[in-house]
Amino acid sequence: MTSYARITGTGSYLPPRRLTNNDLAAELAQRGIETSDEWIVERTGIRARHFAAPDVGSSDLALEASRQAIEAAGITAQDIDLIIVATSTPDMVFPSTAAILQNKLGITNGCPVFDVQAVCSGFVYALTVADAMIRAGTARRALVVGAEVFSRILNFNDRTTCVLFGDGAGAVVLEASEEPGILASDLHADGSHVGILCVPGHVSGGEILGSPLLTMDGQAVFKLAVGVLDKAARATLDKAGLTEADIDWLIPHQANIRIMQSTARKLKLSMDKVVVTVDQHGNTSAASIPLALDHAVRNGQVKKGQHVLLEGVGGGFTWGAVLLKM
Ligand code: ACO
Repeated sequence: MTSYARITGTGSYLPPRRLTNNDLAAELAQRGIETSDEWIVERTGIRARHFAAPDVGSSDLALEASRQAIEAAGITAQDIDLIIVATSTPDMVFPSTAAILQNKLGITNGCPVFDVQAVCSGFVYALTVADAMIRAGTARRALVVGAEVFSRILNFNDRTTCVLFGDGAGAVVLEASEEPGILASDLHADGSHVGILCVPGHVSGGEILGSPLLTMDGQAVFKLAVGVLDKAARATLDKAGLTEADIDWLIPHQANIRIMQSTARKLKLSMDKVVVTVDQHGNTSAASIPLALDHAVRNGQVKKGQHVLLEGVGGGFTWGAVLLKM
């Protein structure tokens, strides 16, 4: 048994193909779909996103991010004894992207591996599970990854959704520690909202039944998101005996700058304390929080000893928050 699970290394990876809003607008114009940099920036804060090459899968992006996190933690891949990958765009129906990642990392120690599917809340779900397993003594060094190739499930004839998402991966190494790390978390779901954000297809008899492309009621998602995020943040702080004033950094799921501003306002946090990467990455679903965390660690914003609140919201409908000390 151990007292805490603590993040000891972070990493991230974006595929090299970067499209600004103008680049995407020019591509969409060829299909007769009209959009503009002005519309996208004003409604979402997004300025650019990265798209993976057709032969690159979530496990490939996860591999690059994981290598960085493992190096930053000062360990080797063989030291990892648990892999959890949060993704809604797995390489295959099965086996898990975590199993494929284990093999690509060359890990031969037989450690348990599995995927978590909670869409954009996937990383806070995965981190909470890894924290519980470490504190229970089931693992000592977990690799927790969010990796997505959302470009594969976008309908490029639907301008209300295809401008919002991008591809990428982020990873952390979470280790058993006597020093405080993850302090509290708070996870939720409401399955009655399945239809407002989904990819409603499935494989059956060698065919795809239903649509394999993302569909979203943007306004319904927006309303639900701004209604739950500050509550999850407060519940997490309460569990740790802390208040909003103790937060050094808020790292929200990077979907839309207006949702982040609304949550920050409700928590009485200045936007100076919010890590924002949505402008450069778009919404990378389960990858967005670990991508933003790694960005903030590497550029010196997030420092050792600071309190960081991560919060995610997404399809399911799922939402949750994790409070940690770096
Ligand atoms: N370019 C130009 N015009 C557009 C575009 C576009 N890309 N998309 C929509 N429009 C038009 C619409 O057709 C509409 O035109 P009309 O008034 O002539 O009918 C107008 O813009 C307004 O459309 P709305 O849908 O009302 O725009 P809204 O202000 O609601 O913004 C948005 C849409 C950005 C999707 C917003 O609702 C939102 O951000 N919702 C949350 C989405 C989100 O965060 N999703 C991710 C959740 S996480 C996960 O699990 C994946």
